[in-house]
Order: sequence, then structure tokens, then C-alpha cells
Amino acid sequence: MQGTRKIQGSKNAVLPMIAAAVLCDGITVIENCPDITDVHAMADVIREIGGQVVYGEHRLEIDAGSVGTGVIEEEKVRDIRASVLLLGSLLARFERVTIDYPGGCSIGSRPIDFHITAFQKMGAEIQADNHILRCDTGGSLRGADIELPFPSVGATENIVLAAVLARGDTRIGNAAREPEIVELCEFLTAMGAEIEGAGSRNIRIHGVPRLHAAHWRLGTDRIAFLTYAMMVAGCGGEAFLETEGRVPRMERRILHRLGCQIHTEKNGLFLKQERVPRPLPYVRTTPYPGFPTDGQSLLMAVLCKSSGVSLIEEGIFENRFQMIRQLRKMGANIDYVSNRASITGVTRLHGAHVKADDLRSGAGLLIAAAMADGVTEVENEHYIYRGYEDITGQMRALGLDARVKSEAQEK
Ligand code: UD1
Repeated sequence: MQGTRKIQGSKNAVLPMIAAAVLCDGITVIENCPDITDVHAMADVIREIGGQVVYGEHRLEIDAGSVGTGVIEEEKVRDIRASVLLLGSLLARFERVTIDYPGGCSIGSRPIDFHITAFQKMGAEIQADNHILRCDTGGSLRGADIELPFPSVGATENIVLAAVLARGDTRIGNAAREPEIVELCEFLTAMGAEIEGAGSRNIRIHGVPRLHAAHWRLGTDRIAFLTYAMMVAGCGGEAFLETEGRVPRMERRILHRLGCQIHTEKNGLFLKQERVPRPLPYVRTTPYPGFPTDGQSLLMAVLCKSSGVSLIEEGIFENRFQMIRQLRKMGANIDYVSNRASITGVTRLHGAHVKADDLRSGAGLLIAAAMADGVTEVENEHYIYRGYEDITGQMRALGLDARVKSEAQEK
């Protein structure tokens, strides 16, 4: 592998920002916005409720002045789990929301009980029947003291989105600390919100009467960064990955432990792998600042060809080992019980016809495919497009041979 690539803007930061845009009347502009299907699906939901959204040249413009309802009946919300974040912002704007229970990747049961309990504390009456949620504050959304049972990313974002316009103060205890939460809070602050403690366990929000539109430039997607970095770690070679903003320490540390040399420059990271990846005796996925669950499939793919035995424990989502069946088709040696997988490195993976089960398993299979001898076909590629912009083009620019099928047939 060899090459220089710019890494796309952050999917998990932009999705809650799109939800935040409906909190004000003006035109919100987000630059460096990735061209991925999750962004387009979320934009469609905003159009569905009357907003205007224009996307081009990595610039997203949202005019939420014409958003006229807190009712989202369309099936579209089923395609995109992040649409649950509209609960918070529409509740803040209209005091009532009706929404289809949202969809997303099949990586576990993914309940939203923390979100619902928090909104009830903030004064909402909530009814749920047959996949439809009806929330109504009766005009009195108010701040509350909320202690989350687990630092859920989505629940933290949803509560923040409601609290910025609620009457009074809100405290979120055991809040998620992910960089995407920090970026959302910075964006809301640029809109006029009053937030303290983002990135810590306690976030305090002082509700304000109104917010105004903001102009924002998105930071780099740390999981997309990790995806291309894992390709270097697994295939060997070198690459310069251009980033905006810092790549978290844990992501860099894992790459280092796999044997990669890393040099941090002002505008990105230079990575070099000269050896077979080293095995990792134990990695557990945990909330930030731990190793991210979204990076687990990526890491597992690389460890399939490491020089020993590794153990991964999945600490967030129960269904994230579905990819193992697919990796075995490629010759991987992996055993698992419950949420613990033991990966014994093999010297060779071979091409196979495999199937993505969710976004990150799709990316993990592409990494394994790049490391394997022969041709691998990855089915269900639509999952991958949810979060990666032109991933095959990026891989080719880094010296790998990857094509979507129509391009491969033309070749
Ligand atoms: C977000 C990310 C996703 C990432 C995940 C964990 C977005 C758009 N998605 O998903 O990429 O993998 O964080 O870092 O940003 N839980 C409950 N009840 C709830 C909410 C969550 O039990 O009401 C549980 C979940 O089942 C899961 C854990 O909490 O076991 C973490 O989920 P959460 O952090 O909420 O993930 P998402 O926000 O859905």
C-alpha cells in the first residue's frame, strides 16, 4: 500500500448536527460533510417535515424555517437510526413529536429506554404503540437532573438537543464523552446554546429561549480514519492520511500495538507497517476513551493475519460478531463464546463471496479482502455506503485493487 488520502468528515458528528439544525429558523451550513447515504437519508427526513436541504461539494445547507410539524410518519426513519435524535430537537421546537421507531444497523437490540426516561423527566408524556412513539410536553419542556444508567451516545445527544431550549437547567450525569458529543456541543454553542462540561461525565445545559443558525466545518471521521489505517496495518506499506482535528489516543495506540509506525503531522498522520501485524492479547470495546465498538470489526480483520493469538471482548453491542462467519469463509481461524472472540492468526487468507451484516462489518470485510489472496466479493455493500464515501476509490488511491461490481465488469 502506498498513497496519500484525505479522510472524510465525521458521520457520527454530522447526523446529530442535522437534527440540531431544526432547533432554529435560519440556514445552517455544514462544510466538509461526507457524501454518504446516512446523511442523505437524514436530509430526506428533514425534507419530510417541511425543511429544505441542499447538498453539493461536501456542503450541506439546511433551512429549517419552514419545518412545520413534529410528526414523522414516513418509513424513511426506519432506514436511519439517527432519526431518533429528532425526538429531542422536535420536542424542543414543537413540544410534541410523533415518530416511527427508528431503524439502523442490526448490531443488537438497540433500545431507546434511556432517551424516553429522560424526556419523561423533562416533562413529556410518552406513549408507544406498534413502533410509533408519541411524546407531548403539554407546552412545558423543562430542564431536569438526569443520571444515565450507561453513557449512551445517542441518549446524551438527544437530551442535549432537548435541553438547549428547555426552561431551566439540565444536568446529564454519566454522560457519553465521545468526541462527536463534544463537536455537537461546540456546534450548539455556536448556535447560541449554553453548555458546560462536554467531554466529561457531567454535562450542564442552561436552556435559552432561542438559537440562531451557525456555519460549521466538520472534523475528520475517526472511524473512517481507523478503517484506512487498519488497511495499512493489515496489508503493510505506508500511507499519509490527512485529517482535520486530532485522532484520539486510543485509536493511535492500537495501531502502534499492531506494529505500525505512526508520525503525527500538523495535517494528518503518516503510517508505516513493515511487518506481519502483532497479535493483541486482550482488547475490550468500551465507551470513550476506550477502544470504540465501531472499530472492533476493523481490528478483528487485521488480527486474522497476525503472528499469534488475540482476544477481543465486545463490551457495547451484542451482535457485533456476525462477521466471524464471513471471515471464516476466507480462511480465518476464530472461535467465540458470547461476547469474547479468540483470533489465531493465519499466514494466508483467501478470497471468497462474503456478506456484510452491518456498516462496520462491511468495512472489516473490505480490510480482510485487501489482505487476502485472490478476489473477494462483498455482498450487501449498501451498508458500507451508509458511512463511507467512495471507499473503493479511496482504496485504489492507496494502491489497493477494489471496485464496485459495475466498475469491475467494465475493467
Ligand atoms: C452511537 C453511534 C454508533 C456507535 C455507538 C457506540 C451514531 C449515529 N451512532 O450509536 O456508531 O457504535 O454510539 O459508540 O452516533 N442503550 C440502552 N438504552 C438506550 C440507549 C442505549 O440500553 O436507551 C445501550 C445500547 O443497547 C448499547 C449501549 O447502550 O448497548 C450503547 O449505545 P449508544 O451509545 O446509545 O449507541 P448509539 O447512540 O445507538
